[in-house]
Amino acid sequence: MSSFLIVAIDGGAASGKSSTSRALSERFNFLHVDTGSYYRALTAELLRRVLRTDQIEAVKSALPSITLGTRVDGRAARMEIGGRVVPEAEIRGPEVTAAVSHFAAIPELRAALLAYQRAQADVARAHNFCGMVMEGRDIGSVIFPNADLRFFLHADPVARAKRRELEGRADAVAERDRLDASRKTAPLVLASGAIDIDSTFLTLEQVVEKLSGLIAAKLS
Ligand code: DC
Repeated sequence: MSSFLIVAIDGGAASGKSSTSRALSERFNFLHVDTGSYYRALTAELLRRVLRTDQIEAVKSALPSITLGTRVDGRAARMEIGGRVVPEAEIRGPEVTAAVSHFAAIPELRAALLAYQRAQADVARAHNFCGMVMEGRDIGSVIFPNADLRFFLHADPVARAKRRELEGRADAVAERDRLDASRKTAPLVLASGAIDIDSTFLTLEQVVEKLSGLIAAKLS
């Protein structure tokens, strides 16, 4: 029997998902899949095609012409669009950050990413990783509801806004959460049965230790 493990980590903007997932991927030799970066890369491509967030029909028509691939870079999976990885500086920039939640609310765009995200487990297996840690908003609820472990990271909105400020990044954390939690398709929710972790008063190391203990127990 294979011991390949799928770990889902959901949570709001700046809840510590990425740092935690990266640390876990290193500790357990898992592929790290940041699905937020996928929505961001797709947003960068739509903006490059001069599409606006209110042009829903035009976005839907553009989707079939966007060819997705995956590049494994160390332990991180990166989305390729037309054979090119969109640079980090672009996907984390203010234009993409302001638009991404709006594009991510379009059901057809989410549907276009569904099979792609599930197929990341095959990418991880093909690269001989011991498992995959996938972070996002709907991983434990929609993408991998049967994941071996499903976590939901919470943190106080003020603490989260402060984290982004310290990183020097413009990000309307509370507004993105409002949009992500109120959309009709696959909203940001605590999936039933997911393990809820409040990281407001925990350091990154403490969160990683907590999750590592549960992952190690699953592996043993
Ligand atoms: O994790 P992040 O903040 O980089 O994600 C950017 C946006 O992508 C987020 O505001 C909503 C969207 N997203 C989503 O709708 N579903 C996911 N699984 C991951 C991200």
